[in-house]
Amino acid sequence: MDRIRIVGGQRLHGTIPISGAKNATLPLMIAGLLTDETLILENVPRLADVVQLQRILGNHGVDIMIAGKRAGENGDNGRTIHISAKTIVDTTAPYEMVSRMRASFWVIAPLVARMGEAKVSMPGGCAIGTRPVDLLIMALEKLGADIEIEGGYVIARAPKGLRGGEIAFPKVTVGGTHTALMAAALARGTTVIENAAREPEVVDVADCLNKMGANIAGAGTARIVVEGVSRLHGTRHAVLPDRIETGTYAMAVAMTGGDVLLQNARPELLQVALDVLAKAGTTVTPTNEGIRIARNGAGLEPVDVTTAPFPGFPTDLQAQLMALMTRAKGTSHITETIFENRFMHVQELARLGARIQLDGDTATIEGVARLKGAPVMATDLRASVSLVIAGLAAEGETTVNRVYHLDRGFERLEQKLAACGAAIERISE
Ligand code: EPZ
Repeated sequence: MDRIRIVGGQRLHGTIPISGAKNATLPLMIAGLLTDETLILENVPRLADVVQLQRILGNHGVDIMIAGKRAGENGDNGRTIHISAKTIVDTTAPYEMVSRMRASFWVIAPLVARMGEAKVSMPGGCAIGTRPVDLLIMALEKLGADIEIEGGYVIARAPKGLRGGEIAFPKVTVGGTHTALMAAALARGTTVIENAAREPEVVDVADCLNKMGANIAGAGTARIVVEGVSRLHGTRHAVLPDRIETGTYAMAVAMTGGDVLLQNARPELLQVALDVLAKAGTTVTPTNEGIRIARNGAGLEPVDVTTAPFPGFPTDLQAQLMALMTRAKGTSHITETIFENRFMHVQELARLGARIQLDGDTATIEGVARLKGAPVMATDLRASVSLVIAGLAAEGETTVNRVYHLDRGFERLEQKLAACGAAIERISE
């Protein structure tokens, strides 16, 4: 199994290109199931999760073509993929596939909307909490689907098609909102989604659906209105830049010091996180090309942060911020409100010398003068990358095991950091 080896202490200088967002790419690929025409997605990142979803869609009969290189492109550009769900041959998503990637459960919406039935394995728990799908099921029921749960599978049926309805989410859910949007796009009549997720990835999916002929208004606000249409067509859509990758590298630069341009990054996608970094003593400068992040020799100030749905501080940057605050000049508090068990990085950061106390959903981080390298591992993507950030500032050598978690969500992580002067390499075995 591959490992990442880091020797800490190098400042970062240069340019890091930001890839297309994983969490927009996945639902956009799934949206390809809604039409028998070809959906062309540009700026698709090279990630293990994208490959896994290709397999899952392939099982439903979807043809996926990955376009070759174009003039002026190098390996750093995102790829263009053609998704063609002309004929759906199977409406079942089996356990072996769905259990490996939770977002694949979302295929249930386009399958039932277009085919009138879907049988999709329940995703099960995962390393960051129980993560139920009750709200996704509720949304489909509100649109007229009959739901049965049998043998660990959710079976959704709407033989005469879905019909518009009122969906009021009791809690903000990104996956629930994606599901509702995709199902409502092909339902008869009007759907109103209340307390919708406002995440930029939801807006990106709604934009793409509208280009496919859907009639969606209000994406990016808490109230979305969808007028159903009878069919959708193909289109071409470029995936928006990854705000979590952006925030992660911004924190890496804040940690090591230096000056890096995060190319293609868009500040409005993560304003609250950038404000936190500025408060901690980092210089954040939006430019025409992206966002410049710099920190000189001055120390880091502690911060108090609570995660929240967009536009709040993202849960997907919580672990990275905690790694950063292990080196602050004082005590920080980080409260996690989205997932109940997203603190696996705490024990591993402690192995590097961090001082962190957990009390329910709040972590108290007492900054230390130095971290010391050690072998570490983590059981989810964002926790793993927080260990990379800590390793970049730790004295001596840190090895991060179970790199496949990083490969799920960070494209060419070690190359991007090494190009800016980090002493980081992948050790393949
Ligand atoms: C998406 O997950 C992201 N995944 C997650 O990113 C992200 O952490 C999360 O949104 C929150 O921003 C993708 O986009 C692929 P939710 P999702 O439904 O949609 C509860 C990463 O590292 N809930 O918004 O699954 C749930 O338990 C990943 O890239 C229910 O109670 O998250 C949680 O407490 C990890 N019932 C809260 O809602 C439901 O039916 C928000 O979850 C659904 C969710």
